[in-house]
Amino acid sequence: SSSATVSEAIKRITVVGGGQMGAGIAQVAATFDHQVTLVDVSPEALERGRQYMGKSLGRVAKKKFPEDPAQQTNWVDSILGRIQGSTELSKGVSQADLVVEAIVENINVKQRLFADVAQAAPADCILASNTSSLPIGRIFENLSAERRALAVGLHFFNPVAQMKLVEVVRTGENSEEIVQKALDFVRAIGKSPAVCQDTPGFIVNRLLLPYMMEAIRLLERGVADSRDIDTAMKLGAGYPMGPFELADYVGLDTVKAIVDGWYTDGEGLKGDSLFMPSPKLNELVAAGHLGVKSGQGFYNYKK
Ligand code: NAI
Repeated sequence: SSSATVSEAIKRITVVGGGQMGAGIAQVAATFDHQVTLVDVSPEALERGRQYMGKSLGRVAKKKFPEDPAQQTNWVDSILGRIQGSTELSKGVSQADLVVEAIVENINVKQRLFADVAQAAPADCILASNTSSLPIGRIFENLSAERRALAVGLHFFNPVAQMKLVEVVRTGENSEEIVQKALDFVRAIGKSPAVCQDTPGFIVNRLLLPYMMEAIRLLERGVADSRDIDTAMKLGAGYPMGPFELADYVGLDTVKAIVDGWYTDGEGLKGDSLFMPSPKLNELVAAGHLGVKSGQGFYNYKK
């Protein structure tokens, strides 16, 4: 390639944020032989992340080596051995070919993080955010043009170890080469990429949120109850989950935060009736019924 800045394959990756997404990304990258540093502000989060990865890998190991517990342990340990935890950001990113950010969904916090990353990461390091709902361009807007050219979205899905898709979000400042490098990385960790422009919801959430909101509005109008709507979409459209099961799984607070954000402030979506507030959704969230994680949403999950 002609560019000296982006010729080498990605080998060392640093994941910032050791929560459910960050730990999942670290686990998958290490499984596919990358050297991983997992950075979090909280040592407890790093410890929880390691336990989460150990459990998740343990389940895979059981299927891989059903007859051989020693093999299972070896396999899990060798993968965990490629993941180093750190609470020191500047050290953690100093050798990275790629930094993937998976911290709190807050634009100011993410901007501050990348200002710090830019101080310490190699000049040719690819910078990526796993944000679900913030504009990629805004997250990186205060960085230099050189840094912005190497900054993309890498949007993983939950649970990372199981979900095959990664949306590769390109901005107007990325070259073909950098997008290609991001695609190569996604494939190298066993995932399938879908490329998308930097617009609200990218592909999956831009289509799923209107769908979930329309399902809630059908319910509000008394057209059908949630069970029948879920049954209809599973058996009639072949979806693995119905829209209410899906909304409960995602978290009703998350669904509400995304649609409210788009309705009040989404680029090209502001005031769009697709994302109009739903009384039913608001009522559930106000009551603390957030879905699977709270034990109650559209359905009850308490035993
Ligand atoms: P989480 O709350 O489980 O984990 C966030 C972690 O980041 C915590 O361990 C926290 O200690 C750490 N953290 C916060 N600020 C930090 C900082 N300045 N430096 C280092 N570490 C910091 O969150 P989760 O669910 O893993 O989400 C992370 C990101 O991934 C968010 O941007 C979210 O929108 C995105 N995302 C979430 C999905 C989901 O289903 N939960 C799906 C796809 C993307």
